[in-house]
This record gives sequence, structure tokens and C-alpha cells, in this order.
Amino acid sequence: MIYTVAIDGPAAAGKGTISKAVAAHFGFAHLDTGLLYRAVGAKVLAGAEPLAAATSLDPTDLENDNLRTPEVAQAASQVAVISEVRAALVDFQRAFAKREGGAVLDGRDIGTVICPDAQAKLFVTASAECRADRRFKELAGKGLDVSAEAVLADVMARDKRDRERETAPLIAAADAKEIDTSDLSIDQAVAAAIAFVQSRIS
Ligand code: CDP
Repeated sequence: MIYTVAIDGPAAAGKGTISKAVAAHFGFAHLDTGLLYRAVGAKVLAGAEPLAAATSLDPTDLENDNLRTPEVAQAASQVAVISEVRAALVDFQRAFAKREGGAVLDGRDIGTVICPDAQAKLFVTASAECRADRRFKELAGKGLDVSAEAVLADVMARDKRDRERETAPLIAAADAKEIDTSDLSIDQAVAAAIAFVQSRIS
């Protein structure tokens, strides 16, 4: 049986944490699709042309330690506007979604464009302040030299670009369950996600 779980939402809403926990709980594989766009963005920052960077993406490109920086995040959301770049990444994501044993994909357009037939779709949100605060602590904890104001500005600029782009904008699928994690602990958010996925696949 092929199970696909689609988890979308704005920047730093907790998609990664929830996706990993859901994947571990059900024994599914997990793909962080944001990492694909971040890898393309990093190559563009290093001088590549966006479409060439997307079509030549290699698994080793995903191992770059710089992919989590705010600079690469901005570059990722800029290349993510380009419809040809998005198209170049579709087949890989769909093949991953259809693997035997189940898959969780997180991103912005998984439930709407990449896997419209996913059995379970979640849209994970939180207030911009809450998301920026969590991301600031995460980046500062890794030793990055960031300010809370700059992280909030990054999150808000990417959300705006992601929501307003023409191709595959950030929007909840009509059949997605929304989880607002603003006032939830990680355990509560994960439990809500697992309960929903369980209800959809059993
Ligand atoms: O971790 P965070 O939520 O901050 O971002 P991410 O998921 O790593 O995604 C980085 C950027 O890639 C986003 O701001 C989007 O512009 C883009 N992206 C996208 O367009 N479509 C996806 N399926 C995943 C990411």
C-alpha cells in the first residue's frame, strides 16, 4: 500500500519537527522538500544559473552545511518563484511520495500540487512572531550570528513571496487539516498530527 502524508505551511511553523515525528511513528520515509529549494538557492548564491542548478541537483548538494542559513532561505524562496525550477523538481518529489512503505513530504505545495491525492494533508501554522522566535532560538543555538529582528523579517518576506507567487503558491489544500502550533508544545502538536494521520489511513 502506498501512503502519502503531505505537510505544508509557512516558514518555521514546525513542519520539520512534526514531519520527522510522524514519519518515525508510522515507519514512513521523510522528504524535506524545502531542502531541495535551499540547495538550488545555495548553488545560485555560488554563481549558478537557477534552472541549471535545479536540473543538475545531486544528493550531495543536500549535505551542504550552509543550507539552514537565512541567506540561503531567501535565495531558496527567490528561485522557488521560477516555474521552470519548480517543474524540474516535481518528478523526484512524486517518485519519493509513491515509494513502498509510506512517505511524508513537507513543503509549501505538497497537498495542492505535488501530491493532490495524498491520504492525509496537514497545514501547519503559527503566528509570525511565534515562528520567528522559534527560528531565532534554533539558529542562535547553532551558533549563527543572527538577530531576532532579522529572523522575523526573513520569515515575513518569504511568507509574502511564497503566498503571492503565481506558480504553486503557499495555500492550504481544501481538504487539509490545519494545526495552529502557536500555543501548543511540540508533544501536543505531534500528537495532534499523528492522531489525524491515523484517522486518515486506518
Ligand atoms: O524551514 P522553513 O519553513 O523556513 O523553509 P523551507 O521549508 O526549508 O523552505 C525554504 C523555501 O523554499 C521556502 O520559503 C519556499 O520559498 C521554498 N519552498 C517551496 O517553494 N516549495 C516547497 N515545497 C518547499 C520549499
